[in-house]
Amino acid sequence: MNTPSMQALELATHGPVIPVIVLDRIDDAVPMAEALVAGGVRVLEVTLRTPVALQCMEAIARAVPEAIVGAGTVRSVADAQAAKDAGCRFAVSPGYSQAIGEACRQLALPLLPGVATASEVMAANADGYTFLKFFPASAAGGVVMLKAFAGPFGDVAFCPTGGISLATAPQFLALPNVKVCGGSWLTPPEAVAAGDWGRITALAREASALRPA
Ligand code: 3PG
Repeated sequence: MNTPSMQALELATHGPVIPVIVLDRIDDAVPMAEALVAGGVRVLEVTLRTPVALQCMEAIARAVPEAIVGAGTVRSVADAQAAKDAGCRFAVSPGYSQAIGEACRQLALPLLPGVATASEVMAANADGYTFLKFFPASAAGGVVMLKAFAGPFGDVAFCPTGGISLATAPQFLALPNVKVCGGSWLTPPEAVAAGDWGRITALAREASALRPA
């Protein structure tokens, strides 16, 4: 069966961590993406949180073919359309709405929609989405909550994101219903501001090597 989550699940096959990226300067986009790719991290979620985010996505999509760039913080149908137009290959939303689900389906843009409760899991499932971002993972119950979700939602896979670190990621990755984790720790703002791409490559390499606890 061809569900909307099948292509999104492919994102989880490239490594254990998807970096959640905030870019304030267009000029940082390509070197940052290259630094992450050099460390073995290809799937990049660039958040729509800054005025230059779309231009950064475009620049990465154009100049870093090894990267699989997607848009994070997709909160509206217009965001989804803009992400597609910028060359994004997937979208991540902090929560789920039927409108975003339908828009991404129409755009053929794989969507990783966010959920934090059983009702939200059911709403996303009803529209065919079975690979979900669990957000904000730590604040919403972390590993304990994901273990509880495994009972009623045995066929649902998660990408926990929010409050996860290099130290805690292995505990999440050890859960059968977790396919990949998201986190911003690979791209510390001070390293980006300083253009310290070597540090970002080192953080990416460390994240790529993570194994389940
Ligand atoms: C986010 O949306 O900012 C992500 O969940 C990243 O969270 P983190 O900064 O706690 O990793």
